[in-house]
Amino acid sequence: MADTWVIVGASRGIGLEFVRQILQNGHYVIAGVRNVKADRILELKSHCTTPERCIIEECDITNEESIQKFANKVGEAARSGLRVKNIVLNAGILQYPNRATEISFSDFALHLHTNTIGPIICAQKLVNLDPESPPSKVVFISSDSGSATIFRDDEDGFGAYSASKAALNQMLRHMAAELTRRGGKWSNTSVLAMHPGEVQTDMANIDLGWEVEGSIQADESVIGMLKVIEEKNETGSFWCWDGRRHPW
Ligand SMILES: NC(=O)c1ccc[n+]([C@@H]2O[C@H](COP(=O)([O-])OP(=O)(O)OC[C@H]3O[C@@H](n4cnc5c(N)ncnc54)[C@H](OP(=O)(O)O)[C@@H]3O)[C@@H](O)[C@H]2O)c1
Repeated sequence: MADTWVIVGASRGIGLEFVRQILQNGHYVIAGVRNVKADRILELKSHCTTPERCIIEECDITNEESIQKFANKVGEAARSGLRVKNIVLNAGILQYPNRATEISFSDFALHLHTNTIGPIICAQKLVNLDPESPPSKVVFISSDSGSATIFRDDEDGFGAYSASKAALNQMLRHMAAELTRRGGKWSNTSVLAMHPGEVQTDMANIDLGWEVEGSIQADESVIGMLKVIEEKNETGSFWCWDGRRHPW
């Protein structure tokens, strides 16, 4: 039976590849994008054999009103018969460099709004839509840069980015614990964090001044992550794209 996935931040890169593979696997997608005229997702939809299975809705993760309208649209789709099984919070930014010793108040805030607060609030609204049918998996695309135990002090220029992902990790662990405590059908929802690998996307197209080892393409990353999402049920856990557990 076809499931429905919600992918937030679906206009390009890893998010767009999630949409492509999920449609190819015969499922439905509600794609959240901040610009509904974004060319790459419109092109993907136009070449897809089941374009009616790709619903594109506006969602600017830094705007509370936009998130609420998006959640309302997802609620309407669910009431019209789509079963929202899995949610992927993928939207993110990396304005490079973002050093603690240099970054402005507003640039630091932008990293936190986009990478931490927006994804959590969006997930909160979607999870709370229907107590009788909460999602099976809520997946946050985090980063190895956000690991507190494997602190990467060599990652010059990643201060605000890594702080925003570390805060995301901590907040999603609370979300996992709260849903378990809340009980009912929410206790069956698994909240997962994922490191997608070092993926060759627009975000990675920066001059770092060091060699990035083990770079992969978005298709390989997403094939791996879809397998992990299907297999892992432990709520409040952190995984690499290739199935290895990631330390918090
Ligand atoms: N690439 C890597 O090596 C890597 C490694 C670790 C973690 N990650 C994480 O993986 C996720 C995807 O990254 P990527 O590599 O695919 O980056 P990307 O190619 O730069 O794509 C970022 C996506 O996030 C969306 N986005 C940004 N701000 C948004 C907002 N305010 N509202 C809605 N959507 C917004 C972008 O939409 P627009 O087109 O509208 O800008 C785009 O679809 C991010 O969370 C990133 O931190 C990536």
